[in-house]
Amino acid sequence: MAIRINGAEVEAPEDARVSLLDLLRERVHLTGTKVGCNQGACGACTVLVDGERVLSCLTLAAQVDGRSVTTIEGLAEAEALHPLQAAFIDHDGFQCGYCTPGQICAAAAMLAEVAAGAPSYVTADLTAERVPLTREEIRERMSGNLCRCGAHNGIVDAILQVAAERAA
Ligand code: FES
Ligand code: FES
Repeated sequence: MAIRINGAEVEAPEDARVSLLDLLRERVHLTGTKVGCNQGACGACTVLVDGERVLSCLTLAAQVDGRSVTTIEGLAEAEALHPLQAAFIDHDGFQCGYCTPGQICAAAAMLAEVAAGAPSYVTADLTAERVPLTREEIRERMSGNLCRCGAHNGIVDAILQVAAERAA
């Protein structure tokens, strides 16, 4: 088997201890995915596995053998920015940019979770078919992704913009 990374097949490492984060950065040289805490606390290493967000520092490469991984490099289509990337620029959703790839991957998966009707800790009506995407919902759902520059307000605005565009 192989791991599909941004559409390209990559052999899973023989060493079963290699994390997905190390595979991406050190072996495939996709350095868009960032190393922050390397222990599951900051979200900087967030990538998508079969469309769902995972912390690549806590995921073994062997666990995603046969699955499809999307990193920030694979999110955009051709030369066009992903709508979340454009919205982060529009709303100053970053300063240093270090947390941004993880924020954007998490936001992409988060919007899919909301679209699928998955409630969060702060969802008032757990039986509602459509979860209203309030600022509080976004903050809760993005709480695993820390931004040391304090760009959280811009990040929330960017996500709201993309959600509104999709609803239009
Ligand atoms: S580097 Fe993975 S959560 Fe911080
Ligand atoms: S933009 Fe600097 S850590 Fe988030």
